Amino acid sequence: MIVAGGPLLIAIDGPAASGKGTLARLIAAHYDLPHLDTGLTYRAVAQAMLAAGLDLDNAGAALAAAEAIDLAALDRSALSAHAVGEAASRVAVHPAVRRILVEKQRGFAAQPGGSVLDGRDIGTVVCPDAPVKFYVTASPEVRARRRHDEILHNGGTAQFDTILADVIRRDARDMGRADSPLRPAADAHLLDTSAMTIEAAFRAARSIIDQARV
Ligand code: CDP
Repeated sequence: MIVAGGPLLIAIDGPAASGKGTLARLIAAHYDLPHLDTGLTYRAVAQAMLAAGLDLDNAGAALAAAEAIDLAALDRSALSAHAVGEAASRVAVHPAVRRILVEKQRGFAAQPGGSVLDGRDIGTVVCPDAPVKFYVTASPEVRARRRHDEILHNGGTAQFDTILADVIRRDARDMGRADSPLRPAADAHLLDTSAMTIEAAFRAARSIIDQARV
């Protein structure tokens, strides 16, 4: 429950292409809250390492890249490539990287009026006390179809089967890592968007948020 006048902090987690990012943006716009896509912070680390030709498994180099991340300078369009998402899930296994990025993300979350954060570990690790949490999911086939359509829409090329294999591999990596694995918080509201439009998911989320406010 959110105490009247207290911060409206909303945590949204879920696997790749589940619709969590779109939902987070709609919620942030509707409630006039600042929004952080925490995936961009991991993507920025991966992008910096790829650009410098560094090995993604090198924890020391990944830590240095994480320390240099400036939340205010994250550029979604420069970080959106499918390959950068793949590389992000590899740097995201390093506990030292997570420690630094989580600290920055908590700084963002602590805004007096509240905020919306989306990622993989927001409800479980970054903001475990968030008064409203969502876990957004969809079947791997539906998510792969969305990601594939998105790539084609942006003028890229990709095979559906390759994208589906990537989605399944990324789920396994994100759910199987030792530090902060992707999983729903015990008090998260589950939204399965496999057969739901984004408008329907947004309506469901809004009614949950409005009920949590006193
Ligand atoms: O947009 P998409 O769902 O493909 O990925 P993303 O949200 O940009 O996240 C890219 C990768 O960063 C994920 O596969 C995770 O491995 C990692 N990540 C994480 O570990 N923790 C977060 N809070 C956000 C992202």
